[in-house]
Amino acid sequence: MSKTIRVLSVVSECVPLLKTGGLADVAGALPAAMAANGAEMRVLMPAYRSLRWRLDGMVPLFGEEDLFGGPGTVYAGRVGGIDFLLLDAPHLYDRDGGPYAGPHGDWEDNPRRFAALSWIGARIAREGLIDGWRPQVLHAHDWQAGYAPAYLEWGGPRDVSSIMTIHNIAFQGWSEAHMLRELRLPAHEFHAHSLEYYGGLSSLKAGLVTADRITTVSPNYAIELMRAEFGMGLQGVLSERASIVTGILNGVDTQVWNPENEDKPYSVDKLRGKMENRKTLCAAFDLEVPGPLAIVVSRMTHQKGIDLLPQVLPEFIEAGGGIAILGAGDPQLEGAMRSLEVRYPERIGVRVGYDEGLSHLMFSGADAVLVPSRFEPCGLTQMYGLRYGTLPVVAQVGGLADSVINVNPASMIAGVATGFTFSPTEADAFSGALRRVIKLWEDKQAWAQVQRNAMRHPVGWEASGNAYAKLYAELVR
Ligand code: ADP
Ligand code: GLC
Repeated sequence: MSKTIRVLSVVSECVPLLKTGGLADVAGALPAAMAANGAEMRVLMPAYRSLRWRLDGMVPLFGEEDLFGGPGTVYAGRVGGIDFLLLDAPHLYDRDGGPYAGPHGDWEDNPRRFAALSWIGARIAREGLIDGWRPQVLHAHDWQAGYAPAYLEWGGPRDVSSIMTIHNIAFQGWSEAHMLRELRLPAHEFHAHSLEYYGGLSSLKAGLVTADRITTVSPNYAIELMRAEFGMGLQGVLSERASIVTGILNGVDTQVWNPENEDKPYSVDKLRGKMENRKTLCAAFDLEVPGPLAIVVSRMTHQKGIDLLPQVLPEFIEAGGGIAILGAGDPQLEGAMRSLEVRYPERIGVRVGYDEGLSHLMFSGADAVLVPSRFEPCGLTQMYGLRYGTLPVVAQVGGLADSVINVNPASMIAGVATGFTFSPTEADAFSGALRRVIKLWEDKQAWAQVQRNAMRHPVGWEASGNAYAKLYAELVR
């Protein structure tokens, strides 16, 4: 008998339209997860150059003549089962390059580009500009949407609630204080308890101080964020608002990530196909590996601890292991991976780039997936690993700690172990975990048991979809 709740999601990337990381996966999975829980979600995002062709098949809804320096128009249309609202504003989004950066680094006008997105999000929420569809909750994701709850709060009385979700606090949407007026922010809010952030502005902080609720993408990260080590300057703001902060673990799309749909299908009761996929994977990377075959599928950045691989892999290789690495990012890290490949050509294979198809083969064929992150709000690849019986070897931080149960005598007897965790994120602890991988590998029965535990661990959206729905319902009441 529950009534449908209408939610406007404001986000800078969303599968299937555009993805640079897990944010897009989560934004793209939420609408279906919410539909299953009696909430109707529409997704507002920019019409970047690569998306503009889609506007042809969409309906123009309303426009604004001067949207931070040029005209903007909102279009509505359905793509991949999602109701999208695309904000077309050529002066902000119609350019070659990525959504956040061009050939010379971050777009200089990013503050304006994403303030515009947020402005339109707040207008839709407040003014109900979409015929017959007025949101009850505005759900803003990360710094790109941070000003949306702020514009909503500071635009006068409102009956729409707001949620600010932190997917990664490392990105805070900073700009100089003199941008205040241009970004249509109220000057009287420029003080330490509101807009002001280290002498300037932060769109993420603006969202955090004005949203009705703050969520992040795992319960553990919600706690970590209150500490200086992980809060990255915003720990004080979050501690002050601790009573409205919750962590809801991401799920993964279990249709897209399903070992029964891979090259050689397999399942928890029939693992044979996995061995076949392993052969295909070895052939694809030119590898010959007698022991466990690990993979890394990751952005190559400091966050992801990729720099630890050169320190820990030689011992793992000596013990019989091998690894296939797929990723792109920091050129120095890409180079370091290539040097490893040159040093151990039969055991280490590296592909620099972004390749979704290859990543599926990697999860379906490998024995373990390594995720040695320094911080990880949630992380998705460890969950793909669980689902594919590709045992996760993870740093015990953020959502990684919330989703993997370490192999130890107690968890083995209880039959709940699903992978390997280590702490701190340093080479010694990481090496220790890899030694435990080798040891478990030698006990084929025990390995298979952990694989089964992992594959049975629920990683879909059921529980989290329900948690978001409860949160929306609380806000609407
Ligand atoms: P983050 O968003 O911090 O990068 P997540 O683990 O949440 O980390 O999400 C990363 C997503 O991007 C996953 O779906 C992962 O499989 C995918 N991914 C990362 N790098 C690559 C790559 N080089 N090729 C294909 N998929 C990738
Ligand atoms: C961010 C985080 C990652 C998380 C993703 C989706 O990119 O780095 O840990 O899984 O957002 O919430």
